[in-house]
Amino acid sequence: MSRQADLLARESRHLAPGASEEAALGKRVFVEGRGATLRDADGAEYLDFAAGTLTQSLGHCHPEVVARLTEQATKLWNVHDFATADRAVLCELLAELLPEHLTTLAFFSTGAEVVEAALRTVQAVAEPGRNRVGALRHGFHGKTQGARMLVHWDIGDQSFAGNSVLGYAPYCYRCPLELTYPSCDVKCATLVRRHIAEKPNVSALFFEPVLGAAGVIVPPPGYWEQIEAACRDNGVLLVADEVLTGGGRAGTFLASEAIGVTPDLVTLAKGMASGFPFAVLAGRDEVLRHPRAGSAGSTASTFAANPLGIAAAHATLSVVSRDDLIGRVRHLGAMMDARLLEMHERHPRLGDVRGIGLLHGLEFVRDRHSRRPAPEIARRVYLAALDAGLRTAIGGHIIRLAPPFIIDEAELLHGLDVLDRAITEAEEAAA
Ligand SMILES: Cc1ncc(COP(=O)(O)O)c(C=O)c1O
Repeated sequence: MSRQADLLARESRHLAPGASEEAALGKRVFVEGRGATLRDADGAEYLDFAAGTLTQSLGHCHPEVVARLTEQATKLWNVHDFATADRAVLCELLAELLPEHLTTLAFFSTGAEVVEAALRTVQAVAEPGRNRVGALRHGFHGKTQGARMLVHWDIGDQSFAGNSVLGYAPYCYRCPLELTYPSCDVKCATLVRRHIAEKPNVSALFFEPVLGAAGVIVPPPGYWEQIEAACRDNGVLLVADEVLTGGGRAGTFLASEAIGVTPDLVTLAKGMASGFPFAVLAGRDEVLRHPRAGSAGSTASTFAANPLGIAAAHATLSVVSRDDLIGRVRHLGAMMDARLLEMHERHPRLGDVRGIGLLHGLEFVRDRHSRRPAPEIARRVYLAALDAGLRTAIGGHIIRLAPPFIIDEAELLHGLDVLDRAITEAEEAAA
């Protein structure tokens, strides 16, 4: 029995079910990561086009992050939310990287935790009577109960509608109104706009500027203009959940900047600290310093802003900024886009390819006419790519690609060649 098979068999006697689809299907035991490459317990290597879980913008074990974490590990790990030596420099660096109206910050440990903090904030500052929050269909915001109020899919029937109302997402490939862009006049946005104007009890709209977990849904021009105007006109706060996109992945520090929306609050996590649990809530002064927002302890928790997380975030963001890695994301993202569009022309089961920066979603379908989702093809592609040394991220019939920003061009093109062959293999097997 291989070392991996032995380890997986032993742990399976104890672990509860409920692993991600990619881990359950992939059956690998990873033991090491360097740059864009992972190694498993039997010695096989993989290019990591899922960048950890979109966390490894600098790849695995970036030497500067390792050095800072190692140094910090010998000094101090947790003093609740007392200030530590690096917290001020991290605040200053974030203030430089974020759009200039987002000057107030709070630190947390995970994506769901920071989304909960944003929910608490909007509920605290809301005028009386504004007791509902808005969200978009297909949005994903985490698995805690408050976040699940905003998410109506993902983990089976466990969503909890709570006091949220949902609007249409800009999902052109599967338009719920059965219209086509641009002749649709972005009707989905018009309906969201009307909904916002007609519902005086909504305090905030939570949204992913690019919907990541649902398969990298990128809004078309015209979508956000209408919705943002409606929120402004009706006193509804805009809360951009950039847990997945924040930190440069869209080719701008925030994806909101790329799509032209100006949020009042932003949540960031995955791209902040090279895989160390660390999350940021950034907002306008008037929201985060509102007299009702900052009650004692509202930004503190056991692991929030621990010194190791701060060190990892400061080291990560310093490299992103110093090495202009966001410019690199735009350059590599354009290469990736061109190669994927070319694949789209040749592979009939690849129904749609879309993306922004170094973040792409591939939808597999039974055929292009019906567009019926084909999770069986996506699984075959995922496994064929993994066996050939390429790790991607799978969810249902969608495969997402999000390589580290530091990947070199040859690695990127090699990974895309592997993917191309994996799609051919999956299509032939399904024929
Ligand atoms: C947009 C978005 N928000 C929130 C979350 C939840 O983050 P976490 O898994 O760290 O709780 C995720 C996770 O993928 C996400 O993509």
